[in-house]
Amino acid sequence: MSEQFLSVRDAIIQRRSIKKFNGQPVDREDLLEVIDDAVWAPNHGNREPWRLVVACGKELYALHDLLRDVTVPKWQELSNEELTKQMTKFTLAGGYAFIIVPEDARQKERLEDYAAASIFIQNIQLLAWDRGIGSCWKTPAFLDQPKFREALEVQPGERVIAMLQVGYFDEVPKGKERKKSEDIVTIYGQ
Ligand SMILES: Cc1cc2nc3c(=O)[nH]c(=O)nc-3n(C[C@H](O)[C@H](O)[C@H](O)COP(=O)(O)O)c2cc1C
Repeated sequence: MSEQFLSVRDAIIQRRSIKKFNGQPVDREDLLEVIDDAVWAPNHGNREPWRLVVACGKELYALHDLLRDVTVPKWQELSNEELTKQMTKFTLAGGYAFIIVPEDARQKERLEDYAAASIFIQNIQLLAWDRGIGSCWKTPAFLDQPKFREALEVQPGERVIAMLQVGYFDEVPKGKERKKSEDIVTIYGQ
């Protein structure tokens, strides 16, 4: 794969969440390289409060089965065609990373860890984007389901905070307008 090198600013501004992937698989090595760079996210006390479960390539098939089981009730009663249609939102992604964060009993640490893991995820998204790999951070309710947690071997005291779908795409969606600094900033003392 050809590496691109966007400026930090361009990566931040140009990255869009990709919700329509084209089915091209993501090479696991590419995703692991991205993760190895993304870990340089700031995090309090160097706790590095994250771990991941990744699926790319052939492990995707088993993951699709799990996603089907937790999201399509009575899937056995559907026609192949209908099931395939309902599953495309999962099957067209070229890879998955589930980000797992410890849930510290202390509120301050828990919030810090969530904040740090969020930066880590943004790093993954930006670094992937730089390689032409799109992503979308998703938080479906099934991330907290016991059956799903068990399949990912999520331990008590841990939480899956993101299903990060990664993959290739044919179109970049238009970004929604953002507020300007004048809308969100109050100058101190004025
Ligand atoms: C914490 C978090 C949770 C999100 N959950 C979902 C989700 O469940 N489904 C989804 O389609 N997009 C989800 N998104 C992606 C947002 O929809 C997306 O970031 C937003 O529309 C802005 O678009 P952009 O990322 O292209 O700038 C989530 C993003 C964040 C940061």
